[in-house]
Amino acid sequence: MLTSIKTNSLTTESQKLGMMYYRVAIILFGAQLLMGLIAAIQFLVPGFLFELFDFSVARMVHINALVVWMLYAMIGSTYMMLTEETGHEGVGIGLGKLGFWVLTAAVTVVVLVYIFVQVGPGKESTLWLINEGREYIEAPRWADIGIVVVVLIFYFNVFATYIKGEKTGIMTVMVANLLALAGLYLAGMFYTDNISMDQFWWWWVIHLWVEATWEVFVGTLAAFALIRLIGAKREIVEMWLWIEVLMLFGSGVLGMGHHYFWIGTPEYWWEIGALFSALEPVPLIAMFVHVLYDWGKEQGIAQGKGESGSVITNGPAMAWIVTNAFGNFLGAGIWGFFHTLPQVNIYTHGTQFTAAHGHLAFFGAYATILIGMMYYGLQKAYNVKVLKATFKSKMGIFLVTFGVLGMTIALTIAGYEQVMIERGEMGATWNAFFTAQNLPWYIQAQMWRAIMGVVTFVGFIYLVWDLLTIGKNAQEAEA
Ligand code: HEM
Ligand code: HEM
Ligand SMILES: [Fe+2]
Repeated sequence: MLTSIKTNSLTTESQKLGMMYYRVAIILFGAQLLMGLIAAIQFLVPGFLFELFDFSVARMVHINALVVWMLYAMIGSTYMMLTEETGHEGVGIGLGKLGFWVLTAAVTVVVLVYIFVQVGPGKESTLWLINEGREYIEAPRWADIGIVVVVLIFYFNVFATYIKGEKTGIMTVMVANLLALAGLYLAGMFYTDNISMDQFWWWWVIHLWVEATWEVFVGTLAAFALIRLIGAKREIVEMWLWIEVLMLFGSGVLGMGHHYFWIGTPEYWWEIGALFSALEPVPLIAMFVHVLYDWGKEQGIAQGKGESGSVITNGPAMAWIVTNAFGNFLGAGIWGFFHTLPQVNIYTHGTQFTAAHGHLAFFGAYATILIGMMYYGLQKAYNVKVLKATFKSKMGIFLVTFGVLGMTIALTIAGYEQVMIERGEMGATWNAFFTAQNLPWYIQAQMWRAIMGVVTFVGFIYLVWDLLTIGKNAQEAEA
């Protein structure tokens, strides 16, 4: 099985490096899910691993692993498409490989510190060595600086290759967007002892990542994938991409106001946040329509020419990308819109409803398409013309998606109960919080979340099993 993850059929150094990033990404994804399961059990059995591995620690590792595996998979996908888009071998990839090892060593140390040291005293040294305490991006400062250096190398690889190669619309968006994406990380690095100011800037990273720059990144991946997987026309795909960029930034940037309702920022954010964030689902609908439209169109053209069979050259990748079109729209667009107006958010803020949205959005908008890109990488690594979905691919995508949808529904019910009891009826007091946490609707919902978490994890095992075997089997079948 291990020989099957070798990448020696890849013809470019850039793609080999992309594959290295993918491997670490999938390992961290597994770690994320295990931590989620521990945290989910702790909702049901609060004493589970108490003082050994507390909920706060499991949750922290869960969501930090989430962000890091996604960044790894994003960097991997960029290296994967870089040479194909520019028609030029990646520039400075040797340095890029060094960066990969430095980053991976740093991530390993940070994770070990999270797991074994966990927390430190409220002193400067903790910020530098253990944990910065900013949800999702908790890496201590020494690692922050290392991350910046490695990302600069990565950006140099991308930018220099772009300058030397062909400048497609997709690559132009990619290069400009990556600069914004990487630059925003800096907003989460400096220290202030004012919690409002800290949150104000922290949202620049979190919100402007997931609701602006990461979405545009997904737009570029989908554009690239549609050209490669179903032969969509570049002119059309790139035109859509520019419109998406306009709409995503047009709504997403000021949409940030939906996090400035209750943290001590001026009240004009109520109106700004309500208006612009309410527009955020629009580009997500557009992206959804775009993927399905192009697929239908290319299939129709092929049928018109009398060709039988599917136009799809990579079944599992396309399945994950179509899941992305649905998931992005549902998780970010619909579940996001639910609680984005201040009139609603005053009741739902910080309940399990937020967690429901967080799960479906991160999964639907990002996990899906990044997994799709991994399948694309495998097709290249094994140099197979058509990669067909196997039983394991189908089990993987079905169980993972079903599991996450199940968790989302369970958490939505828990959130609804909190809104009714804790916020609506009992007025958001301390006592109200505990009353709501102990009622059957809440407990049963948490139980279902744990069950659906296990389903997700089983799906993940199928997924990894498939990723390890599909390429070699397809290659043998083709030969
Ligand atoms: C893929 C895109 C998105 C992702 C990954 C995402 C993820 C998240 C996550 C993880 C949180 C919780 C943050 C925390 O820990 O405090 C959150 C909060 C929130 N999201 Fe999203 N989101 C996305 C898009 C959207 C969109 C498009 C909308 C609105 C239309 C939206 C509305 C909100 C609101 C209002 C909150 C605050 C919830 C609260 O007050 O508790 N999100 N989002
Ligand atoms: C085995 C499956 C999983 C389980 C059991 C699980 C469980 C959990 C738990 C218990 C929390 C803490 C919630 C809280 O603080 O109230 C959490 C948070 C979170 N998880 Fe998961 N999770 C799983 C998979 C995932 C996946 C696949 C994603 C996204 C791709 C994800 C994204 C998140 C996010 C964004 C948060 C923070 C939500 C917020 O603050 O609102 N999780 N998860
Ligand atoms: Fe947001």
